Amino acid sequence: MGEEIVARKEDIKRVKTYIDGFDEHLQGGIPAGHITLIAGSAGTMKSSVCLNIMYNEAINGRIGLYLSLEQSYSSLINHMINMGYDFQKINLVVIKDLAKIHESLAKTKSGNGGSLIIVDVGCIRKEIKEVKIDENRSWLNVIKNIVKKVAAEVRCELFVLDSMKALYVLSKFKNPRIELFYIFEFLRDIGMTTYLVSEIPPNSDSLGEYDEDFLSDGIINIRLTPFRRNIVREVRVVKMRTTNCNHDVFSLEFKDGRFKALYGGQNPLL
Ligand SMILES: Nc1ncnc2c1ncn2[C@@H]1O[C@H](COP(=O)(O)OP(=O)(O)OP(=O)(O)O)[C@@H](O)[C@H]1O
Ligand SMILES: [Mg+2]
Repeated sequence: MGEEIVARKEDIKRVKTYIDGFDEHLQGGIPAGHITLIAGSAGTMKSSVCLNIMYNEAINGRIGLYLSLEQSYSSLINHMINMGYDFQKINLVVIKDLAKIHESLAKTKSGNGGSLIIVDVGCIRKEIKEVKIDENRSWLNVIKNIVKKVAAEVRCELFVLDSMKALYVLSKFKNPRIELFYIFEFLRDIGMTTYLVSEIPPNSDSLGEYDEDFLSDGIINIRLTPFRRNIVREVRVVKMRTTNCNHDVFSLEFKDGRFKALYGGQNPLL
């Protein structure tokens, strides 16, 4: 399935990053259907930025799928509560049992707003530990099947895979470059706007482990930068296909329930 060709540039649908002061520099957001890496070191708020997009899109009536390979659903939910999210405004669906996917998805139709579907792969792993998965690649198949099943049942437009590193640990690919190529093909076929969380070491020049940076349509990098005795969280667009964007570094903060990107310009940030 190829990308839809538009007649005019205004027809390119975009999904906001919901980072105030940042979308304005991205022609309004990330083109729908793009696969974007959210790359950063530990604790840079990669997961939070993705959850924030999913939460706000759900408020606007859309359905998003958040596949967590390492962080448990309870930890994610507590994190979102701490971020001040109101779960009365969206349908929050948790899938932690493969046998109950259909049952769990029924909740996406219950409320008025959209839905955030969290798949806790850790729970599912424990559940099917008995069903011995010898062929390591099969873990990838389990994940693909969950995504396909959800996509077949509900009109899911957004997808987060958190994280690529955990996927590599779990899958133990024999030939990661080839496997990764096919993962991207799979993601393009399902056609959702996709965010891949990429964990990288601090100060790393590389933004992925293998060829994610070349294969992806966009890369947003978040980093922690020392400024005197403070550490500033910073965000920048490394690449964004089909988008005339500003590649400058912005400082990133989360305050009063919203992400804000501040343009340093010539003045010191602090
Ligand atoms: N309400 C909040 N306001 C501001 N910052 C917060 C809030 N809640 C958590 N944080 C910060 O968010 C950071 C963790 O965010 P998150 O889990 O999204 O990062 P991450 O990059 O996904 O981390 P990891 O590498 O562990 O997956 C913590 O370091 C914490 O300081
Ligand atoms: Mg995380």
